[in-house]
Amino acid sequence: MRFICDGSNNLHLYMPNSFCFLFCEDPFEKNKVDPDFEAEYLEAQASGFVTLLVNFESLTSRDLAVTATKRIPQASNRTRLIYRGWMLTPEQYDFLYVDLLAKNYQLINTAEEYKNCHYLPESLKYIEAYTPRTVYGKIVDTTSIDSLLDLSRVFEKRAVVLKDYVKSEKHDWETACFVPDASDQQKLRETINNLIALRGRYLNEGVVIREFIDLKSLTIHSKSGMPLTEEYRLFFMFGKLIGAYAYWEEGEYEGVLPDFSVFEALAKNIESNFFTMDVARKTDGSLLIIELGDGQVSGLPDRLDKKVFYQTLQTLLRGGME
Ligand SMILES: Nc1ncnc2c1ncn2[C@@H]1O[C@H](COP(=O)(O)OP(=O)(O)O)[C@@H](O)[C@H]1O
Ligand SMILES: [Mg+2]
Repeated sequence: MRFICDGSNNLHLYMPNSFCFLFCEDPFEKNKVDPDFEAEYLEAQASGFVTLLVNFESLTSRDLAVTATKRIPQASNRTRLIYRGWMLTPEQYDFLYVDLLAKNYQLINTAEEYKNCHYLPESLKYIEAYTPRTVYGKIVDTTSIDSLLDLSRVFEKRAVVLKDYVKSEKHDWETACFVPDASDQQKLRETINNLIALRGRYLNEGVVIREFIDLKSLTIHSKSGMPLTEEYRLFFMFGKLIGAYAYWEEGEYEGVLPDFSVFEALAKNIESNFFTMDVARKTDGSLLIIELGDGQVSGLPDRLDKKVFYQTLQTLLRGGME
């Protein structure tokens, strides 16, 4: 990295024509990475990427958002950027995208591309045939839950799982996620209310109800008691599968990865340059998609060596994959 002067006495950051990474800043210490992302930040640097910091607390507080990138200097040439940090709402992401563009940085996904994989209802247009049956509705007033209960009739007496447009409360499986019989409207209402209460002000838009599918069991989570099943997280960049990893930190996976070719073909139509796809195995042996996520805010599975991940990206991005 080097700085150049454009004659106007403003310093510009000169970047080679490749991708840089943007991490969240430590909320308590300026110019330091958030400790939760430190290991990734160091691996990104060790792999030769230039790293920048954004203040997440400012970005997510309406009044201070304009100050979130204040320590990032203008880039002298258009520089592609990949964010690795906490989840943002599509509005916050859009703000960041526009703010950075004014400084000559372009995030790998537009706000629309971000939303395509961040909100499950938006992802359905790509994955509907490969994911459990799903109904959803925004939570706006007291009638919203009634409308959702109406929609849930398609599940008849089948079991369902609940989440908001982005996240579930899967660690409160029995009380805020799983309903054994969707026709038990009282239990469903109670569980929806528990989910909404637990998500609190972080509730993303609305509630999603999905048919529960019997997945191949791995183990029971040692802390939450949640049943862990055979699941994988796949990372795609520019339409190509760049890595597939065991999802859970616990449980015995077989040594060989499944054949993901059906999902690789599907991924080519998903309008996002960097996203994840979580795939699970059903008890009958076939695979289905649980959800998509934007690649910039999806966690790296614990079993994935961060060094390997950043070195892979380095090879792909420097190799002119795009
Ligand atoms: N339709 C489903 N049938 C069975 N299990 C599911 C279903 N949807 C989710 N799960 C289980 O619940 C977990 C959490 O669901 P997910 O939609 O990924 O929520 P989160 O966004 O909180 O990760 C999944 O990893 C999977 O184990
Ligand atoms: Mg998930």
